[in-house]
Amino acid sequence: MLILGIDTSCDDTSAAVVKDRKILSNIVSSQIKIHTKYGGIVPEIASRKHIEWIMDVTENALSKADVALKHIDLVSVCHGPGLIGSLLVGLCFAKSLSYASKKPLIGINHLEGHIHAIFLEKDYPEFPFLTLIVSGGHTSLYRVNDLNSYKELGRTRDDAAGEAYDKVSKMLGLGYPGGPVIDALAKEGNPDKYNLPRPYLNGSFDFSFSGLKTAVKVLLMKLDIKGKNVAEDVKKDIAASFQASVVDVLIEKIKWVVSSERLNRVVITGGVAANSELRRRAQMLKEEGIEVYLPSKQLCTDNAAMIAVSGYHRFLRGESSDLFLNARAYLPL
Ligand code: KG4
Ligand code: ZN
Repeated sequence: MLILGIDTSCDDTSAAVVKDRKILSNIVSSQIKIHTKYGGIVPEIASRKHIEWIMDVTENALSKADVALKHIDLVSVCHGPGLIGSLLVGLCFAKSLSYASKKPLIGINHLEGHIHAIFLEKDYPEFPFLTLIVSGGHTSLYRVNDLNSYKELGRTRDDAAGEAYDKVSKMLGLGYPGGPVIDALAKEGNPDKYNLPRPYLNGSFDFSFSGLKTAVKVLLMKLDIKGKNVAEDVKKDIAASFQASVVDVLIEKIKWVVSSERLNRVVITGGVAANSELRRRAQMLKEEGIEVYLPSKQLCTDNAAMIAVSGYHRFLRGESSDLFLNARAYLPL
């Protein structure tokens, strides 16, 4: 089965062609350069860029896969959660393609897409398994009982981990998105230099990263430095200390949830799962008998192939959407 996937939930315009679970093409056109100068995503600009780019990106995905639209069997589109204006662009485009080409349409939850990214890899877990989705908008733990059956075990009460990376990066004058820059800087810093809080929340499976972000702010005030004035060495140590705190919390909660659910298969996915320190520490969980599954870095961050494969799984179960499908900024799994 040939599936055309589309994701425009945030600031990446993405289209992919997937054959069952095999990626034929996965084009991600990032708007980062445009938003960087504003220090974060400007929703209105994101929607406008999606409108400009969606056609080219989709044509690119089809031609790279060497597939014509008439050969596509299913149009699978992300319809939430995300920025409403951005979602609407991909959704309206997908609906038009589906209507004009008389191909079935299916709407997919972005979070389900992040989980199903693991099914694009050769190695994926048996059901049931646990998932940590850790991205710019979400930090949540789920028990995945079957292809489309999820039980939320915990979620962030305030900022998502990726959001904390982005905000700390801004404080250090490192720009947007913060994750990859802090990841790179932290490699040269001392993670023990600054003792930042680990918000474990007394055994709860929830998360909270806004206090950690404030702790970095207070640290900068104590050191009497601001944004661009931070010395390179200090930036490296703050990046490493901040990252150590985030990763400690994420890894520790995985251990708790594994023991509480008596389930030792874990998928870690979402943009922050591209983080090298988190990936290193996650691999170490294997020594404790935990099976760890990480999508490749390109499949951890936003992409349309994950939406295509989720659509494939739902379509095989007899599901499809009609043209009344709506975009939802808030859409629980
Ligand atoms: O999944 P994603 O691409 O979009 C959302 O659904 O949010 O995640 C984007 C988030 C951003 O906050 C970005 O800073 C973070 O993922 N990120 C990283 C890394 N690469 C991206 N965070 C830490 N380390 C990275 N290497
Ligand atoms: Zn995402």
